[in-house]
Amino acid sequence: MFTHVAGRTCRSLNGRWRAIVDPYEAGYRSVQGDPWELGFFRNLPPRPGIAEYDFERAARLDVPGDWNSQREQLLFYEGSIWYKTDFEAAPRAGARLFLHFGAANYEARVYLNGKKLGEHEGGFTPFAFEITDRVEADGNFLIVQVDNTRRAEAVPTRSTDWWNYGGLTRDVNLVELPETFIETSFLRLADDGRVHGFVQLRGRAPEQSLSLRIREANVELELRADADGRAGFAFDASSLVRWSPENPKLYDVELESETDRLCERIGFRSLATRGCDILLNGEPVFLRGISIHEEAPTRPGRAFSEDDARTLLGWAKQLGCNFVRLAHYPHNEHMVRVADELGLLVWAEIPVYWGIAFDREDTFARAERQLREMIERDRNRASVALWSLANETPQTPERLAFLAALARRARALDPSRLVTAALMARAVGERSMVLDDPLAEHLDVMGCNEYLGWYYGDPDTLPEWRWTTPHAKPLIVSEFGAGALQGHRGDRGTPFTEEHQAHVYENQLRMLEEIPFLRGLSPWILKDFRSPRRVLAGIQDYWNRKGLISDRGQRKLAFEVLQRFYRARS
Ligand code: GCU
Repeated sequence: MFTHVAGRTCRSLNGRWRAIVDPYEAGYRSVQGDPWELGFFRNLPPRPGIAEYDFERAARLDVPGDWNSQREQLLFYEGSIWYKTDFEAAPRAGARLFLHFGAANYEARVYLNGKKLGEHEGGFTPFAFEITDRVEADGNFLIVQVDNTRRAEAVPTRSTDWWNYGGLTRDVNLVELPETFIETSFLRLADDGRVHGFVQLRGRAPEQSLSLRIREANVELELRADADGRAGFAFDASSLVRWSPENPKLYDVELESETDRLCERIGFRSLATRGCDILLNGEPVFLRGISIHEEAPTRPGRAFSEDDARTLLGWAKQLGCNFVRLAHYPHNEHMVRVADELGLLVWAEIPVYWGIAFDREDTFARAERQLREMIERDRNRASVALWSLANETPQTPERLAFLAALARRARALDPSRLVTAALMARAVGERSMVLDDPLAEHLDVMGCNEYLGWYYGDPDTLPEWRWTTPHAKPLIVSEFGAGALQGHRGDRGTPFTEEHQAHVYENQLRMLEEIPFLRGLSPWILKDFRSPRRVLAGIQDYWNRKGLISDRGQRKLAFEVLQRFYRARS
């Protein structure tokens, strides 16, 4: 599928679409339960028993946007909602027309003018369908069924600690491309000081000459795509200023084939590990991070805009971060592009979360497809440093085989980044933690979530806890934290007060800085986020309160505790 939509000829279909809430899938299945040809996607005129619906009388929903936060009665809704919009489209002669969706959570079935284009499963990665030969000069109607029902075999599975926001949650665009177009590219700075990569053309005449230019760095390559439309290259990178959080240098990379032209802003940096060190451009780096859910900064619901990204990542910069963990799924593309610009390294992650069905091949196929779609979308983003395969998964043989295979797949798709996962350590004796999860053998960097001082262990004792591991690899403590309702004040011994959260942070940080193989942390979490598990009335009210910032954008005392710690180390 083509990448870098922002660099293409696009027309946005964002706006207020008609929406029919359909909890029994009456729009897709007959009363006997089988898919039927007279579904809502036909947009038939109202008729008893055949078409007891009418999009033109239906209320509207904003696209992009989750449906849960748009209507009180949809807050907890899980099921299908049918979206409809109309558009005119007259593609230029010889041009090709595509519908591109930034994401839809969780499954989408897409129909144009009553005919199915296709479907997509996975709530956080983009997908597109060609409509060149299906679009009319006018009167096109696009209907999308989105179903956010949680399923045991899905990725994620039924149980998560985040809100199951459903809908067309990201941008929808009409994209016009030449008959033979530049589908994608991959540029990666390797240890040999050269940039390696490829350009992929797609269309009827892919064997074309093409050029790659980085004018500012006097790089100019003349290439020739083969019969499959692929052109490989490698060039000396000595003229390129390396990207880093301190100097997030981006270059205009211009690709030009005989029939297409595409310009993308790309940074060049190298990543490696050496023993327990993480090396950025050959130098050891300490990752001063924070975890972030894709929750809008000061309104309830999924974040989706560039403004949302600038606010959330701006807060991370104020905290003194050079690193963010985008939990627990690929965030919208604005987040990684703004991270490129602001100079924040990124831990990107697929939602292989807790106890998914590790014994099912179809579940592996789901996880692998989401991994591939995430890597293909973001592999040219200098900010993205780590691909995370999993979060807090049980130590079973099936899980180990599943994730070891996924690690091999990640390295095959992208040899230039580090592979990680959020593991769990185990307490041994009075005050020591051991991180000996066998999955660590398959990772470049060990992530570890721990809640000493909150879920277990006395916060006063944390500075005495010691950590060991048999694996000579870098550790990122990918989660620690404590809940606090902003404005709920009291003594530091009282859970859910701001003072208690700050106290846990102070003693966690004193413990963590004693870990000899620690090379980064991303405390849980930048901002309060909605969760169906957090039902403590008056304190949580379906919000996970571990944010350093409240759901309304107000800082808590612990924000400054972490900020002081990072400023003393930057
Ligand atoms: C887990 C999990 C998070 C969750 C957090 C919590 O570590 O990874 O998704 O929100 O703990 O308990 O708040």
